[in-house]
Amino acid sequence: MPASRLESACAPNAAAVPLSLYIHWPFCVSKCPYCDFNSHIAGELDEAAWLRSMCAELEHMARIAAETLSTDKLRLETIFFGGGTPSLMPPKIVSALIDKAATLFSFANNIEITAEANPNSAEMKQMESFHSAGINRLSLGIQSLHNEGLAFLGRAHSVDEACNALEQALTLFDRVSADLIYGLPEQTAAEWQQQLTQIIGFGIQHLSAYQLTIEPGTIFHSRTRAGAILTAEPDHVADLYELTEDIAAAAGLPAYEVSNYAAANNQARHNLTYWQSGNWIAVGPGAHGRITYPHQQKRRHFRLRRSPGGWLNDVASNGHAIEEDRIEAACDMYEEYWMMGLRLVKGMPLTPPFFAPDIALPGSVFCLDAEWQARFCKEGWLIEEGGCLKASLQGRMRLDYMLGKLLG
Ligand SMILES: C[S@@+](CC[C@H](N)C(=O)[O-])C[C@H]1O[C@@H](n2cnc3c(N)ncnc32)[C@H](O)[C@@H]1O
Ligand code: SF4
Repeated sequence: MPASRLESACAPNAAAVPLSLYIHWPFCVSKCPYCDFNSHIAGELDEAAWLRSMCAELEHMARIAAETLSTDKLRLETIFFGGGTPSLMPPKIVSALIDKAATLFSFANNIEITAEANPNSAEMKQMESFHSAGINRLSLGIQSLHNEGLAFLGRAHSVDEACNALEQALTLFDRVSADLIYGLPEQTAAEWQQQLTQIIGFGIQHLSAYQLTIEPGTIFHSRTRAGAILTAEPDHVADLYELTEDIAAAAGLPAYEVSNYAAANNQARHNLTYWQSGNWIAVGPGAHGRITYPHQQKRRHFRLRRSPGGWLNDVASNGHAIEEDRIEAACDMYEEYWMMGLRLVKGMPLTPPFFAPDIALPGSVFCLDAEWQARFCKEGWLIEEGGCLKASLQGRMRLDYMLGKLLG
């Protein structure tokens, strides 16, 4: 959608309920050995069928959101094209989906529309069309600024391509984010520092730095089980984590989440929806969404069919590919509230906003373990402040352990 048409979709509507939309494109040029995302090597695609099916499922999701939230006044705050590799999407489909969304919802004035992109030169040629379609934020999967690192990670691009992609993205889009992966075997602090300084030096407004994780079902997992050492020593990785926070903060991109760093007003609003237990709908293979019923302390949780072929068949038959549609009880919402919310540097209110004070619920289900909470506060890993609970840097490095004890 060209900028002028995007503006006309942005009718301010204060009464509307805010909502986010995730769109999954499940295809990639090749499969990276560390990746467990729902991604498949693209063969011949029936573009017309994908366009038709994604628009049909979006229409179905709009109905579900309206029904669950008991209103058809829904305002899209963010749209996120994730993958897989959305930069491989035919721009016609990106444009049709944004146009379709504008017929189903109102758009926030400052709607954030992100696409993930791989920095391959062929795909970057499409970015002008993506921009014209309405994408206003690009998230580039750089992963490493060292050719040895890229080769180790099995990436299909070079450092030169990555640098060109960053420069091109920054001229086209107002907001650019880059993903890097650290904690590779034998990665030194000096080498990681150099990569961080170089990437921030491009002028990006947002950085995601992920610690290399060996995910079950990946090639790296099989190699690890066969004895290969594919990650750095945990203590060294912890040092690299602290270094990342220091360098990013000094360059004006303070940490706002476990793995995310941003300049002022440039946090990823779409991901904040997940971390703050907001409402989002989803379209495309394997995607999932959550919508909280107003004033009822329960949430609808749905998941779409994972295999691209199965998803297409289901949408052709039913107009959607929902495989699971269940109601989450308040105690599950409470757990996820802390699992996501403690990732945020600012933490979350001790009383979740979705708690309706007029509904009686067994209090013990909705408390963190008081003894562990006090112990972690004493250690300085948790901080209670202004009615909120947050994790310190040391706490964020032990988040899984702490959550296990707090939610025990
Ligand atoms: C949906 S994925 C990939 C997006 C895009 N296709 C790409 O490869 O750049 C989003 C990000 O997750 C991170 N990631 C994926 N698997 C990971 C793993 N096993 N360990 C650490 N980071 C990972 C990568 O940084 C990646 O850019
Ligand atoms: S990391 Fe990105 S490009 Fe690689 S397989 Fe996963 S989704 Fe595809």
